[in-house]
Amino acid sequence: MDMKSNIIFCDVDDITRKHLQDHKIGEKFNCTILQESLNDLSSDALRKLSNVEIISTFVYSRLRGDILENFKNLKLISTRSTGYNNVDAEYCKAHGIKVANVAGYGEITVAEYAMGMLLSLTRNIGFSNNKLRNGIVKVNGDMGIDLSGKTVGVIGTGAIGRHFVGLCHAFGCHILASDPFPNQKLIDDGMCDYVDVSHLLKSSDIISLNCPATKENYHLINKNTIDQMKDGVYIVNTARGELIDSVDLYEAIVAGKIRGAGLDVLDYEDVIIKNDIEALKNNDKNFALYSVINAKLLQLPNVILTPHIAFNSSDAVLRILNTSIQTICDFIEGKSITFVI
Ligand SMILES: NC(=O)c1ccc[n+]([C@@H]2O[C@H](COP(=O)([O-])OP(=O)(O)OC[C@H]3O[C@@H](n4cnc5c(N)ncnc54)[C@H](O)[C@@H]3O)[C@@H](O)[C@H]2O)c1
Repeated sequence: MDMKSNIIFCDVDDITRKHLQDHKIGEKFNCTILQESLNDLSSDALRKLSNVEIISTFVYSRLRGDILENFKNLKLISTRSTGYNNVDAEYCKAHGIKVANVAGYGEITVAEYAMGMLLSLTRNIGFSNNKLRNGIVKVNGDMGIDLSGKTVGVIGTGAIGRHFVGLCHAFGCHILASDPFPNQKLIDDGMCDYVDVSHLLKSSDIISLNCPATKENYHLINKNTIDQMKDGVYIVNTARGELIDSVDLYEAIVAGKIRGAGLDVLDYEDVIIKNDIEALKNNDKNFALYSVINAKLLQLPNVILTPHIAFNSSDAVLRILNTSIQTICDFIEGKSITFVI
């Protein structure tokens, strides 16, 4: 591949665009910079980009086989994220397309955000602020709980989860963890106890999801697993929306089984995050059902919803952009890279 590879940067926001311009990316590559997600482009627009060799994407683009088959020369997908479940792994494997993510750009960034959500939930910070803005002062209704002394269940103790364990430990929590690959340092430092997931569900006052979404753990949090939880449990999800069945979550919150939820990610989050009404019209029944439930979750006072922004600190975004551009340069120069697919 020569130095002027054909690259699409999709899902590009203003900060990313400025970074690409400041780093004179256009001098290194034949770049197409798109604000849109690739799956939102018309088939004509996709056809015009068919000679692309590298795609740099954020989580919004759903890189399904029917989108990727437009790019016969595609060699690399570089995600500007840690998660890559928006990329069709089977298609990439079958067609020799490599996928590289940005591992470890923002583990503390996301862990801090999860802790922020948890504090806001357990002390009604956002809710009380909204009430006061509307002139409502009623202190009694806003009583929260201390974190100190509570049991926090952390599902997934990888890069982000292990930092979240550290933050909870600093708050005086007892931490139960579940992960197929326990972190020996956390065990040696006495930071948490690894238990099986059913023990964690039964015993935790707070549950935080910090594992990737896979076929195996799709809707890991569902009616059956919620029934096993303590009454009044809080749930925080900064990982992936696919981990929670939002319909079951909604019903459990309304029934009072779950006391509050902090959700930075949602299954079928596109309509809420991107106001993607076209997708609502064109997609399957589940898409419509979950989109309505997501909107209903947004109305609940004890739910905090944010639009997939746990990564979004200026420090982390800079690390993401620098790392993903370096990955692309290394790939072009034939240097060794760790691929996730
Ligand atoms: N909201 C955001 O902005 C944002 C930003 C970055 C990452 N994330 C998401 O956070 C999650 C964690 O990221 P990370 O960097 O810590 O990943 P990581 O790969 O470092 O760690 C994930 C851990 O989860 C474990 N795991 C896998 N399946 C599991 C299961 N079923 N139960 C328990 N543990 C399981 C793995 O063994 C691993 O230790 C990912 O889903 C990622 O996509 C979200």
